[in-house]
Amino acid sequence: MSLQGFTVYSQSPVRGYRGEGAYRKVKVKVKINKMKKLTLILGVVSVLTAQLVADEKEDVMALGQQKFQLCVACHGADGKGMKPVPGMVMAPSLVNSKIVKGNPQAMAVAVLKGIKKEDTKYVGIMMPLEASLNDEELAAVMTYVRNTYGGKSEVIKEKDTIKWRELYSKSKEPLARAEIEKIAAE
Ligand code: HEC
Repeated sequence: MSLQGFTVYSQSPVRGYRGEGAYRKVKVKVKINKMKKLTLILGVVSVLTAQLVADEKEDVMALGQQKFQLCVACHGADGKGMKPVPGMVMAPSLVNSKIVKGNPQAMAVAVLKGIKKEDTKYVGIMMPLEASLNDEELAAVMTYVRNTYGGKSEVIKEKDTIKWRELYSKSKEPLARAEIEKIAAE
């Protein structure tokens, strides 16, 4: 139990004192249950934290949207794959893509190292983009694509993109789509 004191001015005249308008100072002790106080503090802290997280996500999404311009020529501004003329598809749709929605390491390796060209389904080539995006930008574009087209809500952290870049630093060749989809399913 903690005691908190504050002063109030009573409106009632002091007993035994003649005349109106005399006020007495009364010290009121208010007992606030320690747990309630803690709950209140935690409540305020979590509201503030939620706001900070929301602001941070907004910044990441803005950077991601900016960096997505690198992808638009092939994947289209709507992410559904650019079709310059009917029957000609530059790149697959990112909407509901297993690689976009799955284990984020899969999308990271696809963007960093590209995807091995195995068929003529798409006119474009998923090129390695490791030199075009730094770790922060990769995390941002991944967050943007996963949130916008993959139905995800979490923010990809820079510490993870640093880890994935390091993990694949030795591989010189793009992975095959099947290998990437396997990682996505892990
Ligand atoms: C020059 C064209 C081109 C650009 C630019 C490009 N992509 Fe791709 N992307 C492709 C093609 C083509 C494929 C399909 C490769 C395959 O499977 O053969 C692909 C596949 C993908 C996939 C896997 C989708 C799936 O489910 O198969 C992801 C994810 C992806 N790209 C993300 C991106 C992102 C993010 C960017 C921008 C940072 C980007 N791409 C830029 C052409 C491009």
